[in-house]
Amino acid sequence: MKLKYFSHSAFQITTDNGKIILIDPFLDGNPTSPVKSEDVNADFIILTHAHGDHLGDAFKIAKRCDPLLICVNELANYCSAKGFKVHNMHIGGSYNFDFGRVKFTIAHHGSKTPDGEYGGEPAGVIISVGGKNIYHTGDTGLFYDMKLIGEMTSIDYMLLPIGDNFTMGITDAVKAVELANPKLAIPMHYNTFPVILADPNEFKNKLESKDKKCRVLNFGEEIEI
Ligand code: NI
Ligand code: MN
Repeated sequence: MKLKYFSHSAFQITTDNGKIILIDPFLDGNPTSPVKSEDVNADFIILTHAHGDHLGDAFKIAKRCDPLLICVNELANYCSAKGFKVHNMHIGGSYNFDFGRVKFTIAHHGSKTPDGEYGGEPAGVIISVGGKNIYHTGDTGLFYDMKLIGEMTSIDYMLLPIGDNFTMGITDAVKAVELANPKLAIPMHYNTFPVILADPNEFKNKLESKDKKCRVLNFGEEIEI
């Protein structure tokens, strides 16, 4: 199984049998993404919330690849009204798809669609695939229930924002890792725009001083997980 980081909060999981799952595919308008939406394919697209830097190019990719869009109810209804295939879920719920299980968690943030509609509650997501649990927190501030999330699910990979301003910054993100206790933390949502500049190696060093493992992925880097 492979995990690829496009930058910002956009990731791609490729399962051992070749299914492609995209998370928050913000590519064309993303100055740090090494690829464009036309360069990627998808069988599934998981969206954490409706903001333009997360919904991103989901519709462009969906028009070409016809993936299933997985998101919270209100955002799923918004996508469905645009003519796309959706699976409506909500926070606290999980469901078995053919690639694995998806569970939505809380996130403290907002979620308006690019059309100005209410996109439902913003979310994080735990994707259980290929024997691994991947927790993508979405955009969020720090919250203590991350401890509960880590107690209920043994997190292998925690993908979490460090860019500050709209989300956790480095100090809060270090605390988030201590609470959820993943085997490996991977920083995201930084250096895309001047307002979210952050040094991922500072985050890594702070975690390592607390005996927590961190891997900083380059934009476009793919790793075996
Ligand atoms: Ni957002
Ligand atoms: Mn964002």
